[in-house]
Amino acid sequence: QLNDLAVAAGLKYFGTCGSEGNINSDTTYRNILNNKSEFGQLVPENGQKWDATEPSRGQFTYSSGDIVAGVAKQNGQLLRCHTLVWYSQLPSWVSGGSWNRSTLQSVIETHINNVMGHYKGQCYAWDVVNEAVNDDGTWRPSVFLSTFNTDYFAISFRAAKAADPNTKLYYNDYNLEYNQAKTDRAVELVKIVQAAGAPIDGVGFQGHLIVGSTPSRSALATTLKRFTALGVEVAYTELDIRHSSVPASSSALVTQGNDFANVVGSCLDVAGCVGVTIWGFTDKYSWIPQTFPGQGDALLYNSNFGKKPAWTSVSSVL
Ligand code: XIL
Repeated sequence: QLNDLAVAAGLKYFGTCGSEGNINSDTTYRNILNNKSEFGQLVPENGQKWDATEPSRGQFTYSSGDIVAGVAKQNGQLLRCHTLVWYSQLPSWVSGGSWNRSTLQSVIETHINNVMGHYKGQCYAWDVVNEAVNDDGTWRPSVFLSTFNTDYFAISFRAAKAADPNTKLYYNDYNLEYNQAKTDRAVELVKIVQAAGAPIDGVGFQGHLIVGSTPSRSALATTLKRFTALGVEVAYTELDIRHSSVPASSSALVTQGNDFANVVGSCLDVAGCVGVTIWGFTDKYSWIPQTFPGQGDALLYNSNFGKKPAWTSVSSVL
């Protein structure tokens, strides 16, 4: 089973996100999620995001975030926590507010302090800042960037350290895997935080990849090492590899398996790569078809909870 194999191969975990809405309604789903030998780490798919935890200013609610956190606690699975400062799933009272530096800093600190305080001691890692860079390597526009320029990185990481000193603090983004302009800028982001004297422990490679366009194992390892060279750990945090059209042919399913094996293999090849998290395990509940219409079947189990060729490929590489 995947987590047992991953741990035997030297990783800290093999994990998945848990979909809050399906845990109580689908027992087959829940039973697989509960299996610590398969998934040694969970992360809430949506329940810890700003719109879920602080939908209006100063009103904190943890009913959704606690669903996956509770499953992990019950099963003794590691919990990754996701996410604090992100332009998306951000309530309009934040994104549309009229802020100056000191009022928005206080909003960020209050948010981080409350949410991390609620989960204090439970999270292996927190994605403190999520998706701050565009694919072309420019900084992603947000209320945070327009108010602080890049100073919000250090503000957020400092607040996170104060709220829970014993969790790993991550920057998390997608398309870092291609080692192009976006990756360069993410390297700069880490350096900016470090130069400010603020704490940062890790960089999450989300790993939302495409069958047939996934970089090779060695290219991926080279890219991971650009970050470990800065003294931070790395992890794949949201891995899925989608077919650009579905249903996939049997040969496309084999290619998908090779792509998954390359990603997982690259983590094994890099000393500072601590683990792999897939963004859901069954195609039944993946976010991909809604976000990328016509694409999908990006995970390791099919919609009937059968193991796909990609599952076998991952188990063989581990
Ligand atoms: C996605 C969830 O899977 C969806 O259910 C939700 O509607 C939108 O967000 N990058 C991230 C994740 O950091 O939080 C996103 O999750 C996928 C992309």
